[in-house]
Amino acid sequence: MSLKQKDLTTIASLSPDEIMLILETADSFKEVSGREIKKVPALRGKTVVNFFFEPSTRTRTSFELAAKRLSADVINFSPSSSSVVKGETLLDTARNIEAMQADIIVLRHQAAGAAETLARGVKSSVINAGDGWHEHPTQALLDLFTMREKHRTFKGLTVAIVGDLAHSRVARSNIYALAKMGAEVRAVGPPTMIPACLDRLGVKVYHHMDEALHGVDVIMMLRLQLERQGRALFPTIREYSRLYGLTADRVRLANAGAMIMHPGPINRGVEIAPDVADSFSSVILDQVTNGVAVRMAVLYLLAGAN
Ligand code: CP
Repeated sequence: MSLKQKDLTTIASLSPDEIMLILETADSFKEVSGREIKKVPALRGKTVVNFFFEPSTRTRTSFELAAKRLSADVINFSPSSSSVVKGETLLDTARNIEAMQADIIVLRHQAAGAAETLARGVKSSVINAGDGWHEHPTQALLDLFTMREKHRTFKGLTVAIVGDLAHSRVARSNIYALAKMGAEVRAVGPPTMIPACLDRLGVKVYHHMDEALHGVDVIMMLRLQLERQGRALFPTIREYSRLYGLTADRVRLANAGAMIMHPGPINRGVEIAPDVADSFSSVILDQVTNGVAVRMAVLYLLAGAN
């Protein structure tokens, strides 16, 4: 079994069947991560290079763990201590890494479209680990995997994505993925943080959080992407938190047992109250656990396509 495509740069390139193939493959890799010896030889002899131009805790670590659990060789490439600082381009750098027989390059970059550009310029598989405001496909896949652990099917599921959707690659990838799988998506936030034309993707837009949470099965909170906003989109953080922060009272407006998700990093007391982040309904750390299994599945299925 493999994916037909060489790269994973966007959720838009995956069919619903391919998304299900990744989730079902991740089921078996999650079982591997629960064993005493968390390793299988599936990618023995392959080389995976983590190429991160932006900070990351979850994505970089989980790609490294995923590749190691599949027995691949892993290189963590740090642009700040490489010849990138001497002016070498992204493509030239990647071609030099490829010349050392890298099979898969995992790229995080501040520029939207960087992964797609790289994928066209190298023979190695390229996985987008987040490109600017554009997409973060493996985050959406691990989010779907986490929803499916509880709900089994996406049809009939209502998911509210709350916060700074305009600057969120996580929101964009989730909207594409959830729409493909038949879920209802609600976008919730101030008008300055909701991109235009979301209705064309079938997304319902709300500016009042309490109204939006009625009848939802999943509440996905987003961090304010202050590093990408460039200008104030809201008068004060305190006011933002009062209108769009997730509190225990607001959780009670959603369906009983609604899952609380967040891609991380969380800003406690801004978009999510600490007691909600740590509550029984929160699956934030389950998302992190599932990220390893989903990334194992993506690496495995793309390596099969090489
Ligand atoms: N969710 C996510 O992408 O987290 P990191 O930035 O820590 O990788």
